[in-house]
Amino acid sequence: MKYSKFTEKIGGEGAEAWNIHNRAVIKAEQGEDVILLSMGDPDFDTPRPVIESAVNALREGHTHYTEFTGETALRKVIAAQHSQETGCQIDEENVVILSGAQCALYCAMHCIVDAGDEVIVPEPAYVTYEAVISATGAKKVGVSMPAEEGFSLSAKAIRDAVTDKTRAILLNTPHNPTGSVISYECLKEIAEIAIEYDLWVVSDEVYASLMFDKRHCSIAGFDGMQERTIVINSVSKSHAMTGWRVGWTIGPKELSDHLANMSTCMLYGCPTFSQLAVVTALTEELDELETMRLEYKARRDTVFEELSQVEGLVCHLPEAGMFMMVDIRKTGLSAEQFATKLLDEYGVSVLAGDAFGPSASGHIRLGLIAHQDVMRDACGRIKQCFESLLQ
Ligand SMILES: Cc1ncc(COP(=O)(O)O)c(C=O)c1O
Repeated sequence: MKYSKFTEKIGGEGAEAWNIHNRAVIKAEQGEDVILLSMGDPDFDTPRPVIESAVNALREGHTHYTEFTGETALRKVIAAQHSQETGCQIDEENVVILSGAQCALYCAMHCIVDAGDEVIVPEPAYVTYEAVISATGAKKVGVSMPAEEGFSLSAKAIRDAVTDKTRAILLNTPHNPTGSVISYECLKEIAEIAIEYDLWVVSDEVYASLMFDKRHCSIAGFDGMQERTIVINSVSKSHAMTGWRVGWTIGPKELSDHLANMSTCMLYGCPTFSQLAVVTALTEELDELETMRLEYKARRDTVFEELSQVEGLVCHLPEAGMFMMVDIRKTGLSAEQFATKLLDEYGVSVLAGDAFGPSASGHIRLGLIAHQDVMRDACGRIKQCFESLLQ
């Protein structure tokens, strides 16, 4: 049978990046000793009060269709928090609940770009961005964040990439896979560029609550940005709720109307009880959130300390999030070859940086998603694998 051209747009490298992870999962299921650090799924449980809230919602009969833009109670909470954090005056009509940040990104991109448009994306970039953009027929224009500069973004590089076809800039701060954070000054300059060239900014902020030292800053809060910024967020990482599939967009009201239509034809709304549980997640004082943040930070410090001692191995210290990039170029292997050897011979599963973009070539991405002792064990194995190749 014949499949549509569309299927070609959503396949490709991004989808292939998971091959090593899928293989590792099979090995683990077969009882092999494998440490899985390839996925971005928190190893923490969803906080108990959130689970109780979902169970109560189910018992109370919240098992029916919901508003296509999402439960009003949840949208109100998100709008109030965003207004407080950014100084933007918004309400629930600026918020649309979708099935995770991934779905929110996909839907938002479809509402703002057309075939032939260009979307500027700092790279390395989260692997699904490529398909999200190409599904619309638009083109992803990568702007390098070089490893040599700590994977930091230069606003000048963004400016240089603008053409008369540019329609949007897709930012991700804090960043997957590098854990870098776009500075206030850089965001300010990007905001000026967006205003000058009348561009959208899509700002993926799913790791905002996992900042290790500084405070998160959203580009939505800069003067003149509210009308052209779409903030993407979810509870997947912040609350260890990846399986609940609740994320959202915050943007202009007109965008919400378009997204409501999109939700109607592809989702028909998100699960009601999940959304009501997210109200609890966002409004209750949950000690678990700070515990998680501090634990990620401690893991980062442990891994950095362990791997920095390995001569020739270069670690990039993340400022936030749940990943760390490690430069293995001294081995002479590609990241894919190194990751394959590491899995097959040493039982550690990581992703090859190349999948995130050419600037991450020769790097592996480690998820800080296991207990510190397990992370230490994984570091030992990485060290052995790395050193065996230098001999
Ligand atoms: C940068 C980034 N954006 C979006 C997502 C998707 O998140 P969600 O589970 O909310 O769909 C991820 C997941 O790993 C991510 O790393």
